[in-house]
Amino acid sequence: MAEELVLGEGTKAEKYETLIPQIKALVMGEPDLIANCANIAAAIRQTFGFFWVGFYFVKDDELVLGPFQGDIACTRIGLGKGVCGTAWKEEKTILVPDVNAFPGHIACSAQSVSEIVVPIIKNGTVRSVLDVDSIHHSDFDGIDQKFMEEIAAIVADLIDA
Ligand code: SME
Repeated sequence: MAEELVLGEGTKAEKYETLIPQIKALVMGEPDLIANCANIAAAIRQTFGFFWVGFYFVKDDELVLGPFQGDIACTRIGLGKGVCGTAWKEEKTILVPDVNAFPGHIACSAQSVSEIVVPIIKNGTVRSVLDVDSIHHSDFDGIDQKFMEEIAAIVADLIDA
């Protein structure tokens, strides 16, 4: 396992292109999902400096907070609630340029302004979501979506069927 994260330079896409092989190397040979998600959240935040990066896992009928980097956050989110619960319900990535304009957004922190939530889908079922928050308006776009969906696919491979 790499002991130090190499921070990408250049465009946002180039930073993701530096990050993703390192994420693959970090999780290779480590079977523990929580340990891997903890390092993935840290690696994303170290690369981009986002305000909050973390995972929620589907447990029974709720999303429950998993490994994250950032300020304390709400622990449980219902299906269809907030951005995370909407990404779970609709089984698709949700990009929110301005959280104040998203009906039902759950404000874990008043500092979050924009957000992306990517569902982690294993064998057709949402098992987790990757939630990333920024203090900047419209901080996420199709480039983030493409690469975060790649990261979500890496996590899906780590989840037991
Ligand atoms: N804003 C999210 C809740 C999670 S926190 O941002 C960490 C939502 O609306 O689902």
